[in-house]
Amino acid sequence: MAKPTVFVTRRLPGGALDLLAQHTELRVWEEELPPPPQELRSQAAGCHGLLTLLTDRVDTTLLDGAPNLIVVSNMATGFDNIDLPAASERSVLVTRTPGVLSETVADFTFALLLAAARRIPEADRYVRAGRWRTWGPSILLGRDVFGATLGIVGMGGVGAAVAKRARGFGMRIVYHSNSRKPRLERRYGMTFLPLEELLRQSDFVTLHVPLTAETRRLISRRELGLMKESAVLVNTSRGSLVDQTALYEALKLGRIGGAALDVTDPEPIQPEDPLLTLENVVIVPHVASASVATREHMAKLAAENLLTALRGRIPKDTANREVAAAWRAARRQRLASLS
Ligand code: DGY
Repeated sequence: MAKPTVFVTRRLPGGALDLLAQHTELRVWEEELPPPPQELRSQAAGCHGLLTLLTDRVDTTLLDGAPNLIVVSNMATGFDNIDLPAASERSVLVTRTPGVLSETVADFTFALLLAAARRIPEADRYVRAGRWRTWGPSILLGRDVFGATLGIVGMGGVGAAVAKRARGFGMRIVYHSNSRKPRLERRYGMTFLPLEELLRQSDFVTLHVPLTAETRRLISRRELGLMKESAVLVNTSRGSLVDQTALYEALKLGRIGGAALDVTDPEPIQPEDPLLTLENVVIVPHVASASVATREHMAKLAAENLLTALRGRIPKDTANREVAAAWRAARRQRLASLS
């Protein structure tokens, strides 16, 4: 029997592509930039499987033009780049890669938090600009992290891994999520708060919720107005969780103390974005999960999820497992041309 056709939208680290090449008719987009939408659609048109990244939009037009598509395997925890209801309606399985990146993203969340609190990028710029002329008692003073209150918004894998680290820093931890997590509350000595109260009490607020219609602009002018004047906002989730114009105003006018952003809206941030003119913001290019080992794990898991689905089993990390029954029948039909 011929092998199913798979398109991967970028070269991947580690052995993921070798694995896919053994079992599929593999095509890979070799460029550094993502395939343009038209190219992605035309590649998807003849495919049984797509391995996508968070930069690739999978929408109704793509899905309607890909009658043989069985699975979209997204190499990310988030899947806001994929129209999930549209995929489900067309019995296309969508998988993702949670879990394998939680610790790495939590490390990076703390790196950003510390960088903003202790003004590390600013201090680095200061040295490189030749401004370091002496040790001074008031030069580049920052905020203490130990003993401060950390507000964690979202208590999934990354949120919990951030809480574990915060305990080591001697922080008071408060959190908000859709449901209470009594076991984690006991383990990390943390307190559940309504979002508004968390914003009022926290010295650092860090976001770990997925981007959905409900969480888009979760942090807007009103929410920023509830935060302490000294507070720092950390975002390693998705840029659209925050109203970026309101954030700029709050930072510029000193309504909050600082921000540390791994993600922006849009991505990449435009070079003329006013946020880039502010000293009290740290901005990096969506790299919280970017360790060698973690990116290899993510790529391997995405490849395995894709192969599992092509073989007719529902991967553990499926975002729309409720379509299983219809999907099984559709999969057989979509592979029929190969036999
Ligand atoms: C994800 O997995 O959603 C991350 O944003 C990738 O780093």
